Amino acid sequence: MDSSDMGNDLKSILVTEEQIQERLTEMAAQIDADYAGREILLVGVLRGAIMVMADLSRKLHTPVQMDWMAVSSYGSGTKSSGVVRILKDLDSDITGKHVLIVEDIIDSGLTLSWLQANLRTRGAATVEIATMVRKPEAAKVEVDAKYVGFDIPTEFVVGYGLDYAEKYRTLPFIGTLAPHVYGAEG
Ligand code: PRP
Repeated sequence: MDSSDMGNDLKSILVTEEQIQERLTEMAAQIDADYAGREILLVGVLRGAIMVMADLSRKLHTPVQMDWMAVSSYGSGTKSSGVVRILKDLDSDITGKHVLIVEDIIDSGLTLSWLQANLRTRGAATVEIATMVRKPEAAKVEVDAKYVGFDIPTEFVVGYGLDYAEKYRTLPFIGTLAPHVYGAEG
């Protein structure tokens, strides 16, 4: 999928495919340096993280294992309630492991803040976060994300794992949607 498949739904490309891949190469080098001599358990958060997981993991030289979680925020009908429910838990015991949570986006920060705290209670040696993008102006809680691809403005973004109504996850870039797509004026 690329921009030619989006009709007039695309407003702009915020981060190009080349920028994403270059940044992931830099992040992988930093992670390799930080974890030298250790093994990492990459924990991907379904579903948005699958692209970052696939690309970042293949750029790493450090030996990794992979596991996956699926979580859902609920309460007050919005994803920003801060209450997180585990839909699919890890398959592995993380005691003593160096866990690196892999995410596509930190928006309000509520999901990752909860997840990092949750995994720390399970006896992991370390629990760090790598995310492709972060929206600093949307933060409701501070999240200690060690590896951040790009800080982006608080706009509705799609692509590279990020969806709108389950569409556009397979775009190779991160873009903003035209307001008519999500029912706004303009
Ligand atoms: C996205 C993203 C994070 C969360 C971040 O997942 O992957 O898990 O939202 O938002 P927050 O910082 O406001 O908590 P989403 O719920 O869209 O599910 P998906 O990955 O299946 O698309």
